[in-house]
Amino acid sequence: PDDMDISTTRVKKTASEKAQIIKAMQKNDFLSRLDEEQISMMVELLTSLDCCPGDEIIKEGTEGDSMYIVAAGELQVTQAGRILRTLTSGDVFGELAILYNCKRTATVKAVKAVKLWCIERQIYRSIMAIKSKKKREQL
Ligand code: CMP
Repeated sequence: PDDMDISTTRVKKTASEKAQIIKAMQKNDFLSRLDEEQISMMVELLTSLDCCPGDEIIKEGTEGDSMYIVAAGELQVTQAGRILRTLTSGDVFGELAILYNCKRTATVKAVKAVKLWCIERQIYRSIMAIKSKKKREQL
C-alpha cells in the first residue's frame, strides 16, 4: 500500500536532539495529536537543513512542500513586508500549506544562522495515514 511507502535519507539524531524535537511537537497544536508510533517515525524521518542569515526558507504565495521545526537560530515571519513573529528553537512553521493544501501564507527568513528539522508533505501524509489505517482496522 502506498501509505507504507516511506523512503528517505535517514538523518541520525542525538538523544538531546530527539528530546528537543519531541518537546517542539508536543507544544504544537496538531503535531501533539500524533500517537507514540507516529512521533517516533516523525523523529526518525526528519531531515536537517542549515541556513545562513538572509536565507528565505518560505516565500509567501508559493507552493509549499515541507514543514519545519527550528533546532537553533532565529527567523522572522513576515506578510507583505510586515513582521508577524520571530521564531526560535522549538517553534514549528510551514505547517499551514501542508495541512490545508494552501499557498504559503507568509514569508519566513533566517535572521541568524539557523538549523532546521524538516519533513516533506508526502512523508508527513504517510505518517498520518498509519493512524487512519489502524483506526480502519479497528472498525
Ligand atoms: P505556511 O503558510 O505553510 O508558510 C508560512 C508560515 O508562516 C505558516 O505556514 C506558519 O507556520 C507561519 N505563519 C503564518 N502566519 C503567521 C502568524 N500570524 N504568526 C506566526 N506564524 C505565522
